[in-house]
Amino acid sequence: MSQHPSARGRFITFEGIDGAGKSSQIAATVDLLRERGLTVVQSREPGGTPLSEKLRSIVLADPMHLETEALMMFAARREHLALIIEPALARGDWVVCDRFTDATYAYQVGGRGLDEDKFRALEQWVHPHLQPDLTLLFDVPPALAAERLASGRAETDRFEREQRDFFERVRAAYLQRAVASAGRIAVVDAARPLAVVTDDVLGSVRRLLEQTA
Ligand code: TYD
Repeated sequence: MSQHPSARGRFITFEGIDGAGKSSQIAATVDLLRERGLTVVQSREPGGTPLSEKLRSIVLADPMHLETEALMMFAARREHLALIIEPALARGDWVVCDRFTDATYAYQVGGRGLDEDKFRALEQWVHPHLQPDLTLLFDVPPALAAERLASGRAETDRFEREQRDFFERVRAAYLQRAVASAGRIAVVDAARPLAVVTDDVLGSVRRLLEQTA
């Protein structure tokens, strides 16, 4: 049965430096969407398919050339788009994803120094027409994020073990991309108490729901 184009689902992504506090906000968002009767596919990057999860475990653990790292992020993404994201949106489901291409811009271009033209070429190749409908960018000073990470978990991956100046560059790149995509990326001050941040996030999600209705 063919679907009317307006039946396409919506794509929401969550971004921010490690320790910004995305996880609980993702859960609150998924709950709200399900309460509204929507079918929600929750996923993450790198990852989301068996192959992409294998790529994730390698890229989070093994040191590699910065271009290899970027290519692996996009390889995992290509698979995730083909198997999960694109079919879900076509069915009319909503997709809520922990990180997407903004993370590659922030971490690989901003953090590692990947050539921006190479990033753009990969973005164009892997998803020339698709961007999230809404991106919540959790902005927090790296010092606070580091405190949250230290109190939250015992094991860290090789990104989380980076130094403060790396996260300063990642944060700056995220904010730069937010300026360039102001209609899509909502910057959320994630240094505030959890409940205040949740209000802000759910407010943005409700606006998207209203636009969609
Ligand atoms: P993260 O999403 O923070 O998961 P967890 O909360 O389980 O640690 O971890 C993914 C890491 O991968 C994070 O440090 C950012 C990094 N990353 C990139 O460097 N580039 C990318 O394109 C993506 C999607 C993630």
